[in-house]
Amino acid sequence: MRSKLVQELVEHQGTYLSGESLSQALGVSRTAIWKQIDVLKKSGYQIDSVPKKGYQLLSRPDGLQEHDLHLYLKSKRLGHTVAYYASVPTTQAIAHDLAEAGSEEGHLVVADEQTGGRGRFGRNWSSAPGTSISMSLLLRPKLAPQQVPQLTLVAAVAVTRAIEKVTQLKADIKWPNDILINGKKIVGILTEMQSEPGLAKVVILGIGINANQSESELNHDNRNRSTSLAIEAGTSINRAKLLAAVLEEFEWLYDTYVEKGFAEIKLLWEARSISIGKQLKAQTINGTITGLSTGISAEGALLLEDDQGIIHTVYSADIE
Ligand code: BTN
Repeated sequence: MRSKLVQELVEHQGTYLSGESLSQALGVSRTAIWKQIDVLKKSGYQIDSVPKKGYQLLSRPDGLQEHDLHLYLKSKRLGHTVAYYASVPTTQAIAHDLAEAGSEEGHLVVADEQTGGRGRFGRNWSSAPGTSISMSLLLRPKLAPQQVPQLTLVAAVAVTRAIEKVTQLKADIKWPNDILINGKKIVGILTEMQSEPGLAKVVILGIGINANQSESELNHDNRNRSTSLAIEAGTSINRAKLLAAVLEEFEWLYDTYVEKGFAEIKLLWEARSISIGKQLKAQTINGTITGLSTGISAEGALLLEDDQGIIHTVYSADIE
């Protein structure tokens, strides 16, 4: 109901809406409207309330709550149920708990601040309040556990497309799933699963997007310098709009992948990748492999040709 109220206020921005007309449009009492207006004001919405005239929306914060997201949401299934947190150690843990409690595919966990965010290889991914998008999406694909890393590549394509759509910035993918702008990291993706033999029961797709950080608010990891969309675009980013675009892009790519397999996604991924045709160093759990990257395999693994002409198939590694 709060999402609908926000929609009404946005649609009628510039005019006053009476409590009576809002209560009729939403099918709730005027007291209920007044209470929700109060909640919105506390979360940063500026709403003018004038007796006998009603309510007028003056400005909205750059929020990531369900009602902020639902203003822009066009996906059919993903992100319709949102668990929002102002501050949380990691959205991944919450999404895992929701999955265990039986939540459906598409349930989204989003936080305004992460204090103990998880990155790949046990790294830290935290973010200050109001600066980034920290999201974990619950998926229940019927995939074998070894196929799940492909979902990370699907997500990387979706996020680059969403960034381009919303900001007009060109984003590149570094295998398997770092997203860079002008060579600096802007997005991290972490896929975790709960599986049983032969079946990935649940996948938690974690995505962290540096949206509105200033230079001093960025966490640079050892390997990749970071940047934010606001730094690169020279203007602040509407996080809810970008999050909605990520869900919309991911939904159709995910459906295509589940229906038709990895082949189409592979082409889209390769078109955006900067990891092909380069001399790369892959640090795997079994040691370091250096070679010329000739592309990715039909499964999404990185192919590296070493000095002897031997092609190594790399399934998981940190790339330099
Ligand atoms: C990486 O190391 O590049 C992956 C970073 C993934 C960070 C995201 S932010 C939302 C979700 N919650 C987490 O704790 N991690 C992921």
